[in-house]
Amino acid sequence: LRKYHAVVLGAGGVGKSALTIRFGRNEFIEQYNPTIEEEYRCDLIVDGERCILEILDTPGTEQFTALNERYLQQGAGFLLVFSLIDENSLRDIDSIRQQIFQVKGADMDIPIVVVGTKLDLNTEREVSRARIQELAKQWNLPFYETSAKRNWHVSEVFEDLVRQMRKC
Ligand code: GTP
Ligand code: MG
Repeated sequence: LRKYHAVVLGAGGVGKSALTIRFGRNEFIEQYNPTIEEEYRCDLIVDGERCILEILDTPGTEQFTALNERYLQQGAGFLLVFSLIDENSLRDIDSIRQQIFQVKGADMDIPIVVVGTKLDLNTEREVSRARIQELAKQWNLPFYETSAKRNWHVSEVFEDLVRQMRKC
């Protein structure tokens, strides 16, 4: 059985844990508890093939620290998480994305998915679909718009990442 290591990165409060817990346990956590560090092990089937996905849920990473560098070295694949209701959180993942390429090598094919969260909070939305399409093209990365609360497009995110990691 193949095992894959994924690391969830992004600013504090964007919904990294809610996304991970929705995927791993199919639950939604309403209250906000800042994460220290949490690892989840999921057994899943993607395209008929069973595998184990180990997901490392990290604390908010606005600033680059030695801790982040360890995360970047540990992960085979990365979920870059931002909040659709917080424009600034998009800038944070841009900087994380650049750090990944610095640590892993700029010409590497690194499994990455970019995840916008809180799609259900439609009236508070700050990041437009047009902006997302523009960035997806510019960064050449897949983007997803999700809601952990409503369970919208959550499993797609992790399946995409597993497909990318399989090719490496
Ligand atoms: P840190 O661990 O501090 O880095 O934060 P985090 O990125 O893990 O955020 P967390 O998942 O704890 O979510 C922060 C808050 O946003 C919580 O109150 C969640 O309930 C809420 N939240 C997360 N995802 C969603 C969502 O899809 N919809 C709504 N409405 N709220 C969400
Ligand atoms: Mg968290």
